[in-house]
Amino acid sequence: MSVGTMGSESLRDAMVDQIAADHAGKGLVLRPEVEAALRKVPREVFTPGLPLQKAYDANAAVLKKMRGAEAISSVSAPYLIAEMLGQAANALGGLEGRHALEIGSGGYNASLLRELVGPTGSVTTVDIDPEVTGRAAACLAAAGYHDVTVVCADAEHPIAPGRRHDLIIVTVGAWDVPPAWRDQLTDGGVLVVPLRTFGMTRSWALRRYGDRLVSQSHRLCGFVSMQGDGAHEMRYLDIADGVHLRLDEDQRIDHDPAAVGALLTQPREEAWAGVSLPPVTVLADLDLWLATRLTHFVVLSAQETAVRSGVVAPGWRFGTPATLDEGTFAYRSALRWTGRLFDLGAYAHGPAAAAAAERMVEHMRAWVDAGNPTPRLHVLPAHTPHGDLPAGAVLDKRHNRLVLAFTPDEKGID
Ligand SMILES: C[S@@+](CC[C@H](N)C(=O)[O-])C[C@H]1O[C@@H](n2cnc3c(N)ncnc32)[C@H](O)[C@@H]1O
Repeated sequence: MSVGTMGSESLRDAMVDQIAADHAGKGLVLRPEVEAALRKVPREVFTPGLPLQKAYDANAAVLKKMRGAEAISSVSAPYLIAEMLGQAANALGGLEGRHALEIGSGGYNASLLRELVGPTGSVTTVDIDPEVTGRAAACLAAAGYHDVTVVCADAEHPIAPGRRHDLIIVTVGAWDVPPAWRDQLTDGGVLVVPLRTFGMTRSWALRRYGDRLVSQSHRLCGFVSMQGDGAHEMRYLDIADGVHLRLDEDQRIDHDPAAVGALLTQPREEAWAGVSLPPVTVLADLDLWLATRLTHFVVLSAQETAVRSGVVAPGWRFGTPATLDEGTFAYRSALRWTGRLFDLGAYAHGPAAAAAAERMVEHMRAWVDAGNPTPRLHVLPAHTPHGDLPAGAVLDKRHNRLVLAFTPDEKGID
């Protein structure tokens, strides 16, 4: 049967088969109950007007609302929803009977959660946009999910003061963890949140221990940004046609963007780590390692056209570690493959290009020599004295002090 003639159920099964295969390719396991929920909920009900095949594209988010060129609301990509539900279920040892709060509504994820928590659990979903909550409530009813509580509010603040949830799953990109999220969790409860650190977003599953949160797992992801009182804009510097630098937290650049762009026209130096890594290697971990070690760190992003024309050749065009140090620009390069294994490299332009590229690959080699460690994120209240912080790279946000720790005993634990 061709995709064009497949019905809803067959397309849904094909989508789930693909998600399961993608999970396996990343070394992840699609939990049976998450798989069962994905095979049950009719996604097309939450994407009205969209051709059926598109509703069942495992890798595509469906954009729902734009402000200028920026998406502010979407139905998230199924593979990512599956990964985040998996993070939640792994961290809590299953979701049956759990009380879940979803931040960022749409209806699809809330229906999956409704399936996962079962009759003894509960699901509340909150969105800042009344148009979204109106649509989510209507779609949930159309799909037969009448017992999801839909709330319109800015989730930066407590939703139902005093109420605690076992799980808070955030489906919008956050820059910090507002105290309300921690306070609405049971002790031992889990917050799954796409959180930006050093200009790079990961979906972190964080378990609450009193006033602190500690990560259990993380996944690479991208999300529309949070609006309302918790909004925190990323700054972009356009350095050449289709080439941008992202600046987050207190990162500063004292150079004129055109001068940085002009560096790209200077000869390119390269250095290679001389390693042979398999495709399952989690480069998202390497990128956080580099962010916590490189001085004058920035994130390079590029449009496809800029990559195709060879202006830049980054490791990942949606966000690659880079440095801008004393008039020299260096970044993690595209991978160099030999058969089924790859090497890590750096490209650099500017007066000290060869040294800058070599410095970057030394950090890459150190990560490989340390056994490709994965970071653990600790989130502590902003007033925590320095002496009480765990060892690691400290990032001060509005409400919290974040610590990213890479130690050999801190391999992913889910
Ligand atoms: C990616 S969409 C959510 C997708 C949804 N979970 C689904 O099942 O398809 C992100 C949503 O977050 C909402 N949002 C943004 N800032 C918010 C805030 N401060 N409080 C609550 N919702 C917010 C947006 O209005 C948007 O609808």
